[in-house]
Amino acid sequence: MTKIAILKERRENEPRVAATPETIKKFVGLGLSVVVETGAGEGSHISDEAYKDAGATIGASLTDTVDGADFILKVMPPTDEEIQAMPSGAAFAAILSPYQNGDSVKAYAEQNLHAFAMDFMPRITRAQSMDVLSSQSNLAGYKAVVDAAAAYGRSLPMMMTAAGTIAPARVMVLGAGVAGLQAIATAKRLGAIVSATDVRPAVKEQVESLGANFVQVESEETKDAETAGGYAKEMSEDYQRRQAELVAETLKKQDIAICTALIPGRAAPTLITAEMVRSMKPGSIIVDLAAEQGGNCELCQPGEVVEVDGVTIMGHLNVPGRLASDASNMYAKNLLNFLTPMIDKETSELKIDWEDEIIQGTGLTRDGQVVHPELTQ
Ligand code: NAI
Repeated sequence: MTKIAILKERRENEPRVAATPETIKKFVGLGLSVVVETGAGEGSHISDEAYKDAGATIGASLTDTVDGADFILKVMPPTDEEIQAMPSGAAFAAILSPYQNGDSVKAYAEQNLHAFAMDFMPRITRAQSMDVLSSQSNLAGYKAVVDAAAAYGRSLPMMMTAAGTIAPARVMVLGAGVAGLQAIATAKRLGAIVSATDVRPAVKEQVESLGANFVQVESEETKDAETAGGYAKEMSEDYQRRQAELVAETLKKQDIAICTALIPGRAAPTLITAEMVRSMKPGSIIVDLAAEQGGNCELCQPGEVVEVDGVTIMGHLNVPGRLASDASNMYAKNLLNFLTPMIDKETSELKIDWEDEIIQGTGLTRDGQVVHPELTQ
């Protein structure tokens, strides 16, 4: 019988889990056996009992859980201990940040594991329900605005009261991808006046349809700013200079800035310099969702909340993990949708179709070799 194993996350600051009782019921319905390591759901408020009720058995330890497993599900990249424990020939899926973790990818191959990076999911229609960057960024965008609102010493909406009128807060969103669009929608719902910027002109319409003002450098270069996969490219120095001037001008008038700009495989672009931070009003808030990739704000300290001349800069890591229950639910469904087509409906056996675009896009290692084209060049 094909066995799926769900591990407890061992890395610091990771409350999410790769399966929920709902997804386990579906796996069991597909004819699979599922083992969940004891305590795996704790950070997301899911008890061992709840997993058992859904049809899983509980593994008492890491080695018990992975013993004989065909497919192992995780959130974060496996630790050395986990890699060593995984049976040779098994497959596993997690958010692997392969560009940053080249040595680990080699270790997966040496252990003869079939590693799948959920964060390499191709951006095609068929894979939308498996797209972890979207499901997690969406929550991060929402949480960024809620974090900013909680730390901001004023109200976001306009209030007209007998004691006087409170002006609405001005929020600027830098990077209007999945996280940025959710941040715009959340800030609008809270009553702020919202503006946004991005290098991809395609997002202008989306930003405006959410009721925000789109601020963008006019340039021939933006026509070419998007890769076939829908991601941003690194822009020229001239563009960056003009963008910095525009951001500097806009930022002075803002109360809250939410940074979400990322370029796959590269450090996050610097969009808010130290000088720009100092030009903001005391009491302003910057939430830097790009903190894990170094931050969009020059003064962001990843993992810290700092104050510079009265401006609070939040560099929380693992922001989706700050909404662990929802993040786990979404991530678990992404994994269920990824695995389901690999399970033979008649025999319930695992059949990985290495010709499939989704498998080729996410598969890093196979039969002891690193096979992903992005990592073998
Ligand atoms: P991301 O997380 O890589 O980047 C966030 C945003 O920052 C992007 O909009 C990017 O253009 C922007 N950015 C990068 N450098 C910048 C700079 N220097 N200045 C200003 N902005 C900058 O991107 P995300 O959010 O993961 O998605 C990008 C797009 O991919 C989405 O808008 C969507 O259209 C598409 N997508 C398609 C999916 C599918 O078809 N399966 C699933 C998810 C997203």
